[in-house]
Amino acid sequence: MHYFKYKDSELYAEGVPIRKIVKKVGTPLYIYSHKTLLRHFNAFKDSFDGYPHIICFALKANPNSALLKLLAKKGCGADVVSGGELFIALKAKIPAKKIVYAGVGKTEEEITYALKSRILMLNVESSEELRVINRIAGGLGVKAPIALRVNPDISTTTHPYISTGLNKHKFGIPIKNALEHYKLANRLPHIRILGIHKHIGSQITMVSPFVDALKKVLLLVQNLGSQGIEIKYLNIGGGLGIAYDDEVPPHPKDLAKAIIPLLKTYNSTLIIEPGRAIAGNAGILVTKVLYLKKYHKKEFVIVDAGMNDLLRPSLYNAYHRILPVLKNNRRRILADVVGPICESGDFFAIERTINQPIHGDLLAVMSTGAYGFSMSSNYNSRTRAAEVLVKEKNFFVIREREQYKDLIKGIKIPYFLK
Ligand code: LLP
Repeated sequence: MHYFKYKDSELYAEGVPIRKIVKKVGTPLYIYSHKTLLRHFNAFKDSFDGYPHIICFALKANPNSALLKLLAKKGCGADVVSGGELFIALKAKIPAKKIVYAGVGKTEEEITYALKSRILMLNVESSEELRVINRIAGGLGVKAPIALRVNPDISTTTHPYISTGLNKHKFGIPIKNALEHYKLANRLPHIRILGIHKHIGSQITMVSPFVDALKKVLLLVQNLGSQGIEIKYLNIGGGLGIAYDDEVPPHPKDLAKAIIPLLKTYNSTLIIEPGRAIAGNAGILVTKVLYLKKYHKKEFVIVDAGMNDLLRPSLYNAYHRILPVLKNNRRRILADVVGPICESGDFFAIERTINQPIHGDLLAVMSTGAYGFSMSSNYNSRTRAAEVLVKEKNFFVIREREQYKDLIKGIKIPYFLK
């Protein structure tokens, strides 16, 4: 569900024609819808209303500060995975007590920063990390609030790169080893056990893996309780899928309905870490058609955005709908929609049937609000796209397009080359 709709034959973001925004800001361009973002956040909020919970938006999906401010104002917390994300979350005024910090490779500097910022908790992924956190917390004279990230060994039908909940993955502590790790945490003088964390993968379009994983985790929580280790926060991670094409992912309400009854006897606060389900369909990437070319019966539509702007098709073979900003009645063609980058893997669609665009047409690559801009890069020394937020009939640039001079920012030339 989103608010990028056609009025007559023209695509709008809420009440603003996309063409109007492009005229002012250019392409490639990410456009986000205020109303869609809020709607998705509220879908989680309302669904879990009956149980104490914190929604921690996964910043990795989209760390634009303007969007974070919007979410923060509505009571959203943050799931961060780096010092950079923590910095951005705090700057966006997300309360430290609503920030959880995950990741298999936190540096000592990052741990120190998190402890000094007094975030809600660190999600710890190994015994070695636990000892390092204990040492740093000791040095700071604090007790580090932690959850252990357990790996419940649950398989999900998603792309292998974004599945995380199996024993073969680098993430978390295998659930069968979790008890001994909690005992260790309990013995360490500068560690305070607050919770348990799991995250089994991303773009999951069924409720059952969440339920299966939670059941395993709850058995462990019971066991911990009987050993005198109390779990105050149950973090079920993120991962709820969205419709890119014709998937019918569960609504947050379905997830809540399946999960809350399991928690009845637990006196805990639930943490949920959605990223994609909040931001994914709240954003589009707008790109301009540069050239058409057809040789050996193969047709290419070459656009001005590339894999540096949106990596998902190249990296995961991900499907994104591509819509014309102005509908037309031209003939249907079977084409690859590709970018200008010097790699054959630089594509947005392979053998897609579309109405033939012509030079200068605008195309909207849909469902790119999550893991779109956040995974963009300067590859081929391309400046990164601008970002715009639309609210009803108004639009606001929330990130300026990079300029060439940004590409050499921080570069230093050794004296002998001057
Ligand atoms: N919590 C943890 C610990 C995570 O690792 C992730 C995502 C999330 C929450 C948020 O998951 P979500 O609700 O967005 O599914 N770049 C990939 C997605 C990688 C997700 C990594 N972890 C993509 O473009 O599909």
